[in-house]
Amino acid sequence: MALFASLFIALFMFSTYQTSALSSNYYDKTCPNAEYAITKIVRDATKKDSTVPAALLRLHFHDCFIRGCDASVLLSSKKNTAEKDGPANLSLHAFFVIDAAKKVIEDLCPGVVSCADILAFAARDAVVVAGGPYWDVPKGRKDGRVSKASETSELPSPTFNFDQLQHSFAQRGLSTDDLVALSGAHTLGFSHCSSFQNRIRNFNSTHDIDPTLHPSFAGVLRSVCDDKNKGKNAGMSMDPSSTVFDNTYYRLILQKQSLFQSDQALLTHPKTKSLVNKYASSKEAFYKAFANSMIKMSSITGGQEVRRDCRVAN
Ligand code: HEM
Ligand SMILES: *[C@@H]1O[C@H](CO)[C@@H](O)[C@H](O)[C@H]1NC(C)=O
Ligand SMILES: *[C@@H]1O[C@H](CO)[C@@H](O)[C@H](O)[C@H]1NC(C)=O
Repeated sequence: MALFASLFIALFMFSTYQTSALSSNYYDKTCPNAEYAITKIVRDATKKDSTVPAALLRLHFHDCFIRGCDASVLLSSKKNTAEKDGPANLSLHAFFVIDAAKKVIEDLCPGVVSCADILAFAARDAVVVAGGPYWDVPKGRKDGRVSKASETSELPSPTFNFDQLQHSFAQRGLSTDDLVALSGAHTLGFSHCSSFQNRIRNFNSTHDIDPTLHPSFAGVLRSVCDDKNKGKNAGMSMDPSSTVFDNTYYRLILQKQSLFQSDQALLTHPKTKSLVNKYASSKEAFYKAFANSMIKMSSITGGQEVRRDCRVAN
């Protein structure tokens, strides 16, 4: 009975998030040119489409937050029940860049480099191409076999308050320092109106507009979102320099001009507020913290195999 109980506990621990040993020289012997090949593909794709870096960075985040960084976000299902079909898939794109990278890597060294590692490399390259910091990506992730649309509800929501954000990150072994640094990814990209709609109309029974949103910025958002020509595609750049990885995001929070409640919530706790101030005034401090936290987030592992095709389990 005791043996059974301890086996059960061991199995349980195995099935929850774990950080297994990744290493920086993992492919030195088996696929030494993989990393550079991916960098080149990300650079070329960005030249053609400046929205690629934001998309790649977000793909890696979604991947790591559901079942660990196991490329579950890339799996397709015939019945459209995979993560990429879930409600939070809005604006996930640039899957073609990962497909292109996988194709080149499979020609170089078949069956060696996981799709999860390709996502991690591509996210780092995306940040570098956009002018942000470089970091050495730990390697050796394995790909998972399961992807469920229903599990996208485990992602943090843009309406989350500080406690909810803290909880979501803590569940994955990430601290409030990681939360502040990683949220800085919102210096890149675009958001649809649906992600901040609740802040600009009928906010709650006492406020029509979220009082933590600058009133004139709320007016700008309203006019953007009321544009009937744009319909469902209406939305706003994360920041005015949305293809450049800089620290503008933190300045916007201080000016009550960030898009999400989850961004603005970083001011509601003394510790995270002081980090927002710090990163708003020092790009160097932000870069250092961001690189560190990305390494932590991207070390949440979960898979078992090296997929041959990133869209289907072996
Ligand atoms: C802290 C909790 C977070 C929440 C609640 C959140 C929520 C969102 C939402 C709602 C969007 C806009 C989706 C749309 O309307 O199209 C978005 C976009 C984005 N997020 Fe986050 N996010 C969070 C953390 C992160 C992290 C940790 C990263 C990466 C390290 C990240 C990277 C991005 C990027 C790059 C975009 C722009 C995507 C594009 O333009 O294609 N986010 N996020
Ligand atoms: C996102 O999900 C919707 C259904 O909820 C689906 O129609 C759409 O194709 C999905 N987008 C991607 C990029 O898979
Ligand atoms: C509406 O939101 C504001 C700001 O978050 C808050 O101070 C106020 O108490 C809320 N009102 C209600 C009725 O929840």
